[in-house]
Amino acid sequence: MSGSWVNSAERIGADLHLELSGPGGRRAALTRALRDAVRGGRLAPGTRLPPYRSLAADLGVARNTVADAYAELVAEGWLTARQGSGTRVAERAAPSRHAGKAPGTAPPRARGPRHDLRQGTPDVSGFPRTAWLASYRRALQQAPNEVFGPGDPAGRVELREALAEYLARARGVRSTPERIVICSGFAHALRLLSEARVLRGPLAVEAYGLPHHRDLLSRAGVRTVPLPLDERGARVDLLERERGVLLTPAHQFPTGGPLHAGRRAAVVDWARARGGLIVEDDYDGEFRYDRKPVGALQGLDPERVVFVGSVSKSLSPAVRLGWMVLPERHVGEVLAVKGEREAWASVLDQLSLADFLARGSYDRHVRRMRQRYRERRDRLVAALAERAPHIEVTGVAAGLHAVLRLPPGTEAATVARAGRLGVALDGLSGFRHPRAPETVPAYDGLVVGYATPSEHAYAAALDALCTTFPNP
Ligand SMILES: Cc1ncc(COP(=O)(O)O)c(C=O)c1O
Repeated sequence: MSGSWVNSAERIGADLHLELSGPGGRRAALTRALRDAVRGGRLAPGTRLPPYRSLAADLGVARNTVADAYAELVAEGWLTARQGSGTRVAERAAPSRHAGKAPGTAPPRARGPRHDLRQGTPDVSGFPRTAWLASYRRALQQAPNEVFGPGDPAGRVELREALAEYLARARGVRSTPERIVICSGFAHALRLLSEARVLRGPLAVEAYGLPHHRDLLSRAGVRTVPLPLDERGARVDLLERERGVLLTPAHQFPTGGPLHAGRRAAVVDWARARGGLIVEDDYDGEFRYDRKPVGALQGLDPERVVFVGSVSKSLSPAVRLGWMVLPERHVGEVLAVKGEREAWASVLDQLSLADFLARGSYDRHVRRMRQRYRERRDRLVAALAERAPHIEVTGVAAGLHAVLRLPPGTEAATVARAGRLGVALDGLSGFRHPRAPETVPAYDGLVVGYATPSEHAYAAALDALCTTFPNP
């Protein structure tokens, strides 16, 4: 079995590479890996080990496997277990002189940052392995043989039906299975829409957004024009001769506010009057904490809006499944560029997601993760209020990231200092459109992805974050 990075400690917050390999099954492999880590000094005396559940989730092993490994090492004297303070490395378990060089110990893999608070990733330790596996198994068992032949480029009808029902119920999207085209995610949708010439330049994009999407559009020959933002969201009142506009209406990326109701109506009016097209990026629409969900803009006019969603935030960016809900007149054009057979999204994964949706597993998973992210958001806000009250937190009513406003001129130094302390963060300035006019203020800030660390690593990441800010 391959190795895994495990964030080990409340005390040092360090990562530990555990390589579960060698003879004797997973319990023996984990026991050996932990023993080597203690003996070699990679786990310092006094270090608190992760709770069974989190370590089990990170490593993909059963909870009992972790419990048994800990118990064995307690019996051997490497670890201590005390009610209320968890399992720790024993104080006398000093590193040997051959630290890190014990025979049979695998060399450590290249390590990532100690604390990863970059935006863009959900808590991957929360992936619903059991429920997904059950859906995958059912999908495989029930699939007729034709499933294993070339796939329909529109996507499996089972998935399009399940999505039409889910998106109507959860996001207020007006669709039918015939208007849905499955793709491998939002980036793929942008490529397909550009290639089909459904999206054409000049295309207005929010003055703050993902550089990756702007680059992708420009490589596809679609010129983007920055649209200023204010406290009501994108300034759609400034749209003129653009052919389309790309928006994140539920939760502006990355600044975090919803598009104001008046602006939602105004952009639809603009599209109707000018024959323009709106692309709605609903990347994290399920994760809303403080208010009623903000429904899809698409519901206002399905003939003027392309609604795009994916499982990248809700489940995992590794699954590579997304969907477009298209105006009727564009379905054929998009399918024409997609090709004669499905070349992107695994048909088996599509069927698995269809089952996952239809059985309510997706709803249950989103609810569970929403609760987890809400708690993390609250802990972030509370930690800042206590330890860095001069830092303003914004954009926290929804999503998986927050924007922290910094004093002018301090962003680059703060990101660099954080890096030296092992905290990886995104500065806000990197999201600003390179051609944004001077009327778009260039804020100093940090985009903090509070969903990224696994559950047991979050406290240490938050602690490290709070040490990186400039003084008031
Ligand atoms: C603004 C934005 N849009 C869309 C996505 C989803 O992209 P994809 O579906 O290509 O993984 C992300 C990242 O998850 C994002 O940050």
